[in-house]
Amino acid sequence: MFHSHIIGTGSAIPKRILSNKELESLINTSDEWIVRRTGIKTRHICSKDENESSTDLALQASLKAIEMAGISADKLDMIVMGTVTPDYQFPSTGCMVQNALKANKAAAFDVSAGCSGFLYALSMVDNAIRSGNCKTALVAGVERLSSIINWQDRSTCVLLADGAGAVVVNATEENRGILSTHIRSDGKYWDLLYSSYVYGKSYRPELLESIDMKPFYLKMEGNRLFKKAIRCLSLIAQEAMETNSICSEDISLVIPHQANIRIIEGLANNLNIPMEKVYINIQKYGNTSSASIPIALDEANREGRLKKGDYVLIVSFGAGLTWASSIFQWSI
Ligand code: ACO
Repeated sequence: MFHSHIIGTGSAIPKRILSNKELESLINTSDEWIVRRTGIKTRHICSKDENESSTDLALQASLKAIEMAGISADKLDMIVMGTVTPDYQFPSTGCMVQNALKANKAAAFDVSAGCSGFLYALSMVDNAIRSGNCKTALVAGVERLSSIINWQDRSTCVLLADGAGAVVVNATEENRGILSTHIRSDGKYWDLLYSSYVYGKSYRPELLESIDMKPFYLKMEGNRLFKKAIRCLSLIAQEAMETNSICSEDISLVIPHQANIRIIEGLANNLNIPMEKVYINIQKYGNTSSASIPIALDEANREGRLKKGDYVLIVSFGAGLTWASSIFQWSI
């Protein structure tokens, strides 16, 4: 029986910082509103002239994770990317990164699961390792949400941003590392958050017809998502703890999807976990969808917030709806 454990982390953030103050000059909003309602102060946005495609960002994050892991890319059996903003409809970002890494042995593909993309990808890889079909894998989350944002829609454009994070996962015969992954979805609520072709064949829900329609623009019903997010995150976090007979006092660090500081506070409150044990970087990066957890994990790791043997809980929620959790014992 194999277990999987994380042996390297990396992240890549676009250079261009977009502050709340700058947004004030573009749309009818205020720094005060954004900070109070979301916790976001700045976010990073890709620029064409900086070579910051989804593939570029995912590659940079992956190279850092591979360097920390101390492996060569030709050892990778799988490359799985969580993303809803790939550079091409096909081939996958996974294959683009595989090519750049010369990871010739790997099976590479993308997973589309909204903000839960990274955790879904981690779950695929964990199962492949447990079954003995994979020894070493790269798991990443990358987004360039700035490419699908409606910059006239103040209820979404202040929230979403760009970035990438990656981990290298390796098989071990020791009983440690990733203890469990849980993934869930409910397509009934697909129209609470989606992005579509307006002039193509995508169906447009009447509910959101008033929002300015442009190709690929993203639409969100923030209020209803907010309540669903706190409930789904709390339930799946509890499920993960129960599965492993771990209580909230045993958790050293919670790394939640960074969607809104008030959602994170609601989750911490429901789990009875103090905010000092919750990793937060939403103030700097905003909501980077499937990149948010691996970016936070990399930062927490490099800041020394994770010690060998610590129980870490990661938990996500996003479009689909999808939600997911994992508990692991840190082993770097
Ligand atoms: N600046 C100023 N005012 C604004 C802004 C803004 N940027 N955006 C909205 N408002 C206004 C609204 O128009 C509304 O005004 P009104 O009362 O005159 O109609 C008022 O502020 C309140 O709007 P609400 O939508 O009720 O504000 P709320 O407190 O719910 O916050 C938010 C909105 C931040 C979007 C919140 O609902 C949220 O975070 N939702 C969850 C988002 C989420 O988790 N998404 C899923 C994951 S993301 C992913 O998968 C990519």
